[in-house]
Amino acid sequence: MVNDTAAAAEPLPDLAMFDQKYMQDPYPIYAKLRQQLPVHKTALPNRSFDMWVVTRYEDVKVALTSPAVSKDSTRLRELISRTAPEGAPQFSEALAGHMLNSDPPQHTRLRKLVAKAFTPRRVEQLRPRIEQITTELLDQVAAGGEVVDLMETMAFPLPVTVICELLGVPEQDQADFRRWSNSLLGNSNDPQQQAKDSQDLAAYLVQLIETKRITPTDDLLSDLIQASDDNDSLSQGELVAMAFLLLVAGHETTANLIGNGVRALLTHPEQLAELKAKPERIHNAIEEMLRYDGPVITGTIRMTTEPLTLGEVTVPADQLLLVGLGSANRDSNKFENADELDIDRVLGGHFGFGHGIHYCVGAPLARLEAVTAIGGLLARFPELSLAVPSAELNYRSSVLIRSLVELPVRPNG
Ligand code: HEM
Repeated sequence: MVNDTAAAAEPLPDLAMFDQKYMQDPYPIYAKLRQQLPVHKTALPNRSFDMWVVTRYEDVKVALTSPAVSKDSTRLRELISRTAPEGAPQFSEALAGHMLNSDPPQHTRLRKLVAKAFTPRRVEQLRPRIEQITTELLDQVAAGGEVVDLMETMAFPLPVTVICELLGVPEQDQADFRRWSNSLLGNSNDPQQQAKDSQDLAAYLVQLIETKRITPTDDLLSDLIQASDDNDSLSQGELVAMAFLLLVAGHETTANLIGNGVRALLTHPEQLAELKAKPERIHNAIEEMLRYDGPVITGTIRMTTEPLTLGEVTVPADQLLLVGLGSANRDSNKFENADELDIDRVLGGHFGFGHGIHYCVGAPLARLEAVTAIGGLLARFPELSLAVPSAELNYRSSVLIRSLVELPVRPNG
């Protein structure tokens, strides 16, 4: 067994995570890590704590399902605050206690209540509206001139509008909401601003929930207020945290699936041609995009509550884990020719939507939006091409989300 000290050694300089080179293309680094340091301890940028990075498919699976691993926000906060500098700005506590930050039995309870309101029927009901919004956005792409930034014109507006309408956020508040969400996902490097944005968003959600409690409307937030199970229902605090989670998880991810997916297609002309020839393959193609270059690639955070053995390394208790979903999705021990985009791949078991009890609640909605957006884009603009060399595309410096700053395209080739 490799001892903890050896495993905790800093990686070789060319394996550094989170620098500009990594942001541009993390996959060669993941490949080396899987081979040389499949589980290692590293420092996060702008943060004062270390994390154990887990990169192999089988280890990621264990980390996402082991009872020795927790997602509980109170425990995580305790662990992080032990190492955080004094006086560091705090993220609003009101937003932290959601189901993605909880363990059973609280997680089971929250997930059951959201499942009651966020039904497959409610997602299916959104289909005509998603198609309508997509058509309007495609009109804007068409009117945007020779070169259009697809992130700004389509990839962000579609999921933001859909999630806001689904939850019942009024149209005039949607721009504020996108700014808050962008800041909280770590795309602002100003922790003071982030702390303020989290307080503002929490206050906004408290007000919105009050309004809907008095006057329920036909939306998911009103349903969540009403949702109950065996005399159980969501408290005011739980509703605020749940609304926050759905609003944020519901759009940054989907926007970047559209962005990263279109980029992948435009840089693989033979795959693009194949999909244009067989548009019915779009569902499979979206799954492959989630595997090949999904939005949540660097990973998801957990903590160990007991020593956890991952392959040859034992991570001690009370350690933060960065569970590498994107690296696992490129592990050639699981996926043949893992570094190739193949829209015809027979796919099973990718971790683009996570795995285990926290598997993405919004996966059916995200799939519907991505199929509609990317399918619609290719049908309307069959000559679509990149307007800049692929190597010139830049990514935002977010630790968790893989997000293009811009995606300039020529809609008509
Ligand atoms: C959980 C990815 C869209 C709501 C997750 C997780 C991943 C993920 C990887 C698991 C995180 C973990 O285990 O720590 C994605 C991707 C999306 C997407 C790639 C789009 C392409 C959505 C949408 C919604 C949503 C549209 C809601 C409308 C959630 C929620 C959870 C979750 C509530 C937490 C589930 C739980 O804790 O039980 N998502 N997501 N996601 N996602 Fe998504």
